[in-house]
Amino acid sequence: MTRATLAGAAAGIGDGPGPPEPGGVPALLTRGGERRGGVPQRGDLDRESEQLLLHVVRAVADATHAGDPYMSGHSSRVAAHCEQIADSLGLGERDRLLLALAAAFHDVGYLSTPTYILRKPSVLAEDEMEEVRVHPVRGAALFAGDPILAEVARAIRHHHERFDGSGYPDGLRAEAIPLFSRIILVAETYDAMTHHRPYRRALPPEEALRRMQESAGSQLDPELVKHFLAIVGAEAVGR
Ligand SMILES: [Fe+2]
Repeated sequence: MTRATLAGAAAGIGDGPGPPEPGGVPALLTRGGERRGGVPQRGDLDRESEQLLLHVVRAVADATHAGDPYMSGHSSRVAAHCEQIADSLGLGERDRLLLALAAAFHDVGYLSTPTYILRKPSVLAEDEMEEVRVHPVRGAALFAGDPILAEVARAIRHHHERFDGSGYPDGLRAEAIPLFSRIILVAETYDAMTHHRPYRRALPPEEALRRMQESAGSQLDPELVKHFLAIVGAEAVGR
């Protein structure tokens, strides 16, 4: 699957382009609902159709890690956790939709990363690390050309920024990091820790949550960690 195909799948969430907007932003949907910033609002698509399309988006996004036994399903699991956090935060429909797209495609930039680097069981060399660090930029570039997807591109670009400013690619800190990016990092961190990697075994959910608590305020947004602990912590206890 080409990168263009993946980006097209994310953009193709409507019946096709409507008439151009005054600011040059095309309308995705024109079926009677309100639109804000060119993004469809509730009433444009009913919830069932939207869910169906988002599941298609997740399935396509999982092609990012196709054939990688360690990362299989990572994109859709991260998207599912982001949906839980969006519920907990009470985000509006527009934000939920944009977050769902960004979460599904957050790692799409890995499509151009050499497989030997992604599956290397030992410590990466500096040039290999550079190749890994560029994946948020590459992923964002796929969406940056479409004004409707600008927030999706931004969310993807910054999903490895750390709350204390020591992340990449731009070293943003705290609230300067887009909210969607901070949410994705919480979800991705949990999924990464609770699944096997070539260099370590999966951690039990309780241990992963404990480590996330430790990195609240340094790596992760402490408020979002609280929300995530409330959601997933309750699930882990109820298993
Ligand atoms: Fe990533």
